Amino acid sequence: MAFTLEEPTEVVMQRIDQYLQENAPRFERDLCDLLRIPSVSADSRCREAIREAAEWLRTHLTALGLAAECIATDGCPIVYAQSPPVDGAPTVLVYGHYDVQPPEPFEQWISPPFEPTVRDGNVYARGATDDKGQMLTHVHSTEAWLKTHGSLPIQLKFLLEGEEEVGSEALHALLDRSAERFACDVIVISDMPQFGPGQPAITYGLRGIAYYELRVQAADSDLHSGTFGGSVPNPIHALATMLAGLMDQSGRITVPCFYDDVVPMTEDERARFAQLPFDQQKFLAQLGLDTTSGEVGYSTLERRWSRPSFDINGIWGGYQGEGSKTVLPAAAGAKFSFRLVPHQDGDKITSGLKQQLAALCPPGIRWELIEMHRSPGVLVPPDSPYVMAAARAIEQGFGCAPVLIREGGSIPIVTALREKLDADPLLLGWGQDDDNMHAPNEKFSLADFHRGIRASAHLWHELGRLRPAA
Ligand code: BES
Ligand code: ZN
Repeated sequence: MAFTLEEPTEVVMQRIDQYLQENAPRFERDLCDLLRIPSVSADSRCREAIREAAEWLRTHLTALGLAAECIATDGCPIVYAQSPPVDGAPTVLVYGHYDVQPPEPFEQWISPPFEPTVRDGNVYARGATDDKGQMLTHVHSTEAWLKTHGSLPIQLKFLLEGEEEVGSEALHALLDRSAERFACDVIVISDMPQFGPGQPAITYGLRGIAYYELRVQAADSDLHSGTFGGSVPNPIHALATMLAGLMDQSGRITVPCFYDDVVPMTEDERARFAQLPFDQQKFLAQLGLDTTSGEVGYSTLERRWSRPSFDINGIWGGYQGEGSKTVLPAAAGAKFSFRLVPHQDGDKITSGLKQQLAALCPPGIRWELIEMHRSPGVLVPPDSPYVMAAARAIEQGFGCAPVLIREGGSIPIVTALREKLDADPLLLGWGQDDDNMHAPNEKFSLADFHRGIRASAHLWHELGRLRPAA
């Protein structure tokens, strides 16, 4: 049936809702098909799976009638698809990622990571929430529009990449080369949690990240700890001293100039966060903890969303095998990162960090700092017409108005997309914070999956009513 503008909104949306209901089981099968592909971007053995996932998406988008292609890059292919322009209506770019984090440790998964399994209304698989499940909601809502009406109320562009979990290098290069192809009025991203079960949210801020590896070295070779212990430097002691010295007793990061450019929270924002229905005891119980920790003077939500953090991500050195070994290791190392908030300056932080490590390093230790990836924090205006349109759509999809939140995670490409395309991101998470992103037993609630699809279908409608400035 052809879409006619005269048709009342309720009729249009009713028909779409009916399509969504009738096709719900197949949407779940599609999701499981994509989840079965082990597209781990960090693992070079998964290159074929990466190609397969990209091709799966291209085929799927083509079947909807969109002009879709896999753009070859030096890294993982980027899937791009678009629908025709709609006069006067906004162009909406959907960004998502089909790559996933490594699934290890395998033994902690109840069902295997790439054999999607439904238990208690959740689908369990690596990528279920981050980001295959959330990304697909927009594909399925688009299908509903196209199959029931033959056209969309907006122009849609899908930009789906395979390197989000490792820093988005290929997409950065593509944007440098040909950003004009992706020109749009707003960027829709669903790759984050809601506020909580039954409480959808619109996210107006993300933290950025600066990631490092620190290597320390003492003697040329491992030494007997009886012969040499107590008389020569131990690199693990040095590493522990250096890492511990990067944060003080009050949870403040000691790197010079670290807080210089931090945008402080406004009183209004602090008051809004304090009013959110956050249950600290439930939060602790969910994590198996009995206390929180962090920067003195800030609440848990403030620490997670709006303040920078220092996180040691991995540490190695010395003997870790069975039994004991009396050894003074020659070398040790750690990976650590800072979560950043707008407008912290990564270069300034790296140079302050080097200065602080030099001051903290005990005599007799050589150290090397390797800079890994980095991306800035993001804040978008929470009161734009796009945000208002999203709030209405979410209310339709979830049966409840969204709250405004920030999130602590990072999506490295967001700032580049925003700058290159001169459009704001609309961050609409459908997940939950206990979805086990990056951990064993990752899951996505099928109810949230379907509510997300419905919200997305309504979003295309709500955005279609906006008239962007020419
Ligand atoms: N989906 C997450 C981002 C996210 C997580 C946003 C939680 C909000 C709340 C994304 O896939 C991710 O994990 N990003 C990485 C980026 C890093 C590898 C550069 C992150 O935040 O660690
Ligand atoms: Zn992730």
